[in-house]
Amino acid sequence: METEKIRKDFPILSRTMSGHPLIYFDNGATTLKPQPVIDAVVNYYTYLGANAHRGDYEMSAQVDSAYEGARKKTANYLNASCPEEIIFNSGSSEGLNQVALMLTQQMLEPGDVILSDESEHASSVLPWMHACKEHNYTLEYIPLDNEGKITVENFKKALHPKVKVVCLAQVSNVLGFTAPIKEIVRLAHEQGALVVVDGAQSTPHLPIDVQDLDVDFFVFSAHKMCGPTGVGVLYGKKSLLDQLEPIFYGGESNARFNRCGSLILKDTPLKYESGTQPIEGVLGLSAAIDYIESIGKENIHAYEMELKRYFIEKGKQLGNIHFYNENAESGICTFNVFDNGQMIPSQDVASYLNTKGIAVRSGTHCAKMLVDVLQVPGTCRASFYFYNTKDEIDRLIEALKEATLENCINIFF
Ligand code: ALA
Repeated sequence: METEKIRKDFPILSRTMSGHPLIYFDNGATTLKPQPVIDAVVNYYTYLGANAHRGDYEMSAQVDSAYEGARKKTANYLNASCPEEIIFNSGSSEGLNQVALMLTQQMLEPGDVILSDESEHASSVLPWMHACKEHNYTLEYIPLDNEGKITVENFKKALHPKVKVVCLAQVSNVLGFTAPIKEIVRLAHEQGALVVVDGAQSTPHLPIDVQDLDVDFFVFSAHKMCGPTGVGVLYGKKSLLDQLEPIFYGGESNARFNRCGSLILKDTPLKYESGTQPIEGVLGLSAAIDYIESIGKENIHAYEMELKRYFIEKGKQLGNIHFYNENAESGICTFNVFDNGQMIPSQDVASYLNTKGIAVRSGTHCAKMLVDVLQVPGTCRASFYFYNTKDEIDRLIEALKEATLENCINIFF
């Protein structure tokens, strides 16, 4: 990994925070943007400007071609079977809500069971909690093992014929464990259940092949993989997308309608893209895919694992850090800091690290059921990406050495 060269592509890495060079370890929340992505967004506003699929002039045709080119590129990135399986939207949360609403309105029956787990992000589980209350479905949870992982064994125990939808993250945003999606999908399909996968934390880091996984729906957000905020992707199998109707209607999604209410929708995927899309975001996502592919997901993952092992080894030597996910195969490191056996509140640790120019996330990380499983009120999370370095981790370790209750709690006084 040519990290020093790569870091030059990220203008934000030259800024300071709290008077120190920025150390950004909050990549699970969002990632920094390289210059080619910034350029792609600026280029749209500077030179393209038109809406997509609506104009009869050259500039508009150029937007159409760039936008549909991005769809093809995204389909290749996920190994979808065709570009029509890619729907652009505002991000993973919208995609997960879209799927829950469509299946609720069009496929599920009262008494059906939805299978989730207690490590899920709010965006994955809350749409189904709401649907269960409204429509008399039951939400059940795959038991987590003693590390907080989803195992095939436990999935088999949780699966039964009433389960109609399984909705879970490929990589947990708190513990970083990778769920055995391929095997889960195989077992779920044997029972006739659909599988919806939240790929927000996996797509930026791991090679994704939706055909090999055989998932029915898969979502991800551009901003967690160096792309712009406000844009994401819902992948769906073409047969399902053709069968279902959208939950939103608008100018782009219809082919024809009249005053009597007769409506003919466009074909997949445009029937799902009802209003003007975040066009600059889609073009930024396209540039982000090029950028990530130029580095290679295998290289990214291997490097993140190297950083994670380095942090855990050094962190354990300090003696005051407890890690919750040492064995997770991802760059997410979740921990708490102790002072003489007393846990320092995670937000105080994060605020203290901020005074050293270090950004980490603290608290429940939008996965509020997991604190009951871990039996702690919150955790600190350092989530690495390919532009981070061991030198930055050394600075984190130096800061954590000084992270006493007094230092962390009295920073504002
Ligand atoms: N889902 C994002 C995170 O894990 C915001 O931090």
